[in-house]
Amino acid sequence: MSDKKVVQNREIKSKDYGLFCNYLEKQCGIVLGENKQYLVQSRLWPLVGKFGFDNLGSLINKVISGHARQLNTAVIDAMTTNETLWFRDVYPYELLADKLLDQLAGRRTPVRIWSAACSSGQEPYSIAMVVKEYLTRKPNAFPGGVQIIGTDISVDMLERCKNATYDNLSLARGLPAERKKKFFQAADNNSMQLIPAIRNMVSFKPINLLDPYSSLGKFDLVFCRNVLIYFSGDIKSKILQKIAAGLQKDGILILGASESISGLSDKFDLNRIERGIFYTKKQ
Ligand SMILES: C[S@@+](CC[C@H](N)C(=O)[O-])C[C@H]1O[C@@H](n2cnc3c(N)ncnc32)[C@H](O)[C@@H]1O
Repeated sequence: MSDKKVVQNREIKSKDYGLFCNYLEKQCGIVLGENKQYLVQSRLWPLVGKFGFDNLGSLINKVISGHARQLNTAVIDAMTTNETLWFRDVYPYELLADKLLDQLAGRRTPVRIWSAACSSGQEPYSIAMVVKEYLTRKPNAFPGGVQIIGTDISVDMLERCKNATYDNLSLARGLPAERKKKFFQAADNNSMQLIPAIRNMVSFKPINLLDPYSSLGKFDLVFCRNVLIYFSGDIKSKILQKIAAGLQKDGILILGASESISGLSDKFDLNRIERGIFYTKKQ
């Protein structure tokens, strides 16, 4: 086979691209927009050989037929952007440590925190570290316990969350040295694993934000960060509606630093703090 043929096979026809964009938005809300053919090509090409196809067109037609579960999972895993880091943007975690945990302390029922698109786990585990430090200062603060739940659509990411093992590169992103020393232990291949005391504070579940999630129960605090940016306004609104329904009275929502509910939901009041904003469910 000539090099030219290989390059040609990697190309995605505009009809297949259109079909794939529709499929992806229906499956997980991600809107690709125009001219993202290169992204689809580079992310899906590794699956062509792996699943025994000759070209991207046949892979796309198979996955949109709805009769290929494993392929569907692999395509969603490949198309989601999982960029994350420890204590991302810092202020949500300062807010938690300095204000929100004080407000929630003393409750007899469990305090419930949801990291709604948790990627490889840095977000829910950063929350767990903050809660752990709070409990070190005030051991009896939460008589009903604290439940932290991390969810994501990506099965691959949820596996990583459960392993709780991170290489040097990811450990270097946002994790203060003191917390690394306190909460991690050496693991194989120059990586480190979170200690059981932190791992055991978080449970993980696959949840597609497009689906219902009332089965998760009510939350006091929801981190839904850096995921709404991938969705259309209509889908953002629907997700915000469902999150509001899943929040306790006075429940709090924290979005990503570049995200806002403006024009999308009237279910929240906006609160400004020094370095960012957070939302409180309206009465
Ligand atoms: C950029 S990461 C954000 C991770 C973390 N929240 C943060 O701010 O660092 C976006 C995550 O959203 C997940 N995601 C994308 N579409 C989703 C959907 N429909 N339902 C649930 N999770 C989704 C991706 O798998 C990815 O892990």
